[in-house]
Amino acid sequence: MDLIPPYDPAQHGLLPLLARQGRTADWFTTDNGNPFSEPNIARWSAHTTAKNIPFIYQRAVSERPEISQWITALADQARKVQAERGAPVPSVVRGPSLLLLGPTGVGKTYEAHAAIRELAVTGVVARWTVTTAADLYAKLRVRHGVDTEAEFAKFVNATVLLLDDIGAAKVSEFTEDINFRLINHRYENQLPTLLTSNVAPKELAGRLGDRVASRLNEMCQRVVITGPDRRRGQAA
Ligand SMILES: Nc1ncnc2c1ncn2[C@@H]1O[C@H](COP(=O)(O)OP(=O)(O)O)[C@@H](O)[C@H]1O
Ligand SMILES: [Mg+2]
Repeated sequence: MDLIPPYDPAQHGLLPLLARQGRTADWFTTDNGNPFSEPNIARWSAHTTAKNIPFIYQRAVSERPEISQWITALADQARKVQAERGAPVPSVVRGPSLLLLGPTGVGKTYEAHAAIRELAVTGVVARWTVTTAADLYAKLRVRHGVDTEAEFAKFVNATVLLLDDIGAAKVSEFTEDINFRLINHRYENQLPTLLTSNVAPKELAGRLGDRVASRLNEMCQRVVITGPDRRRGQAA
């Protein structure tokens, strides 16, 4: 981890994220020369994360308390594990998952990237892997010269996984199999997963299958997002 000289948290729209986590700009710019200090981890994480956030979500900030609570829980867990293991830095390894539900355009992907940004400023290390379900299936299609099991391992073992839009693609035996193997492994190992879906809460079991829906029920807190399609509002 590099030592990152203090920069103004207003730069990347980080102030509201810090406020949600009960932190100040002074905390963020604290520099005691230790690269493993939480403010330095926050500066490093915010900087690194910003590069991987799609353009339209670069300033995303959630207003939902459930998202802040989930992030606080992950950060607390990371600090607990650090204390137990005497690790140099707090890193997210295990923890609860979150399922964002709502129709197309209500802001699920926005909330997901807001969560990635907010976790970054807590001062714990979180290695995210980000994919849509559709991209995941495409990467795992059997084709010549590609070790799809090795590819699958990247997602199934991801430290923190954003799986965007599960249940949106056409269901096939192939997608059902991937969903089950992925969710089951992450469920059994308590690997933090942020899922979004436009499937109505009542239809989850029908769409994803009972086995997947039941595991999601236990491992995830549900956040139901309602409202108009924001993309339509923008076009009008
Ligand atoms: N809380 C918000 N504040 C401002 N813009 C938002 C917010 N939530 C969503 N948007 C914008 O609305 C559009 C749709 O949001 P998105 O998260 O992509 O929807 P979904 O993933 O639910 O289909 C995007 O342009 C996004 O940037
Ligand atoms: Mg989306």
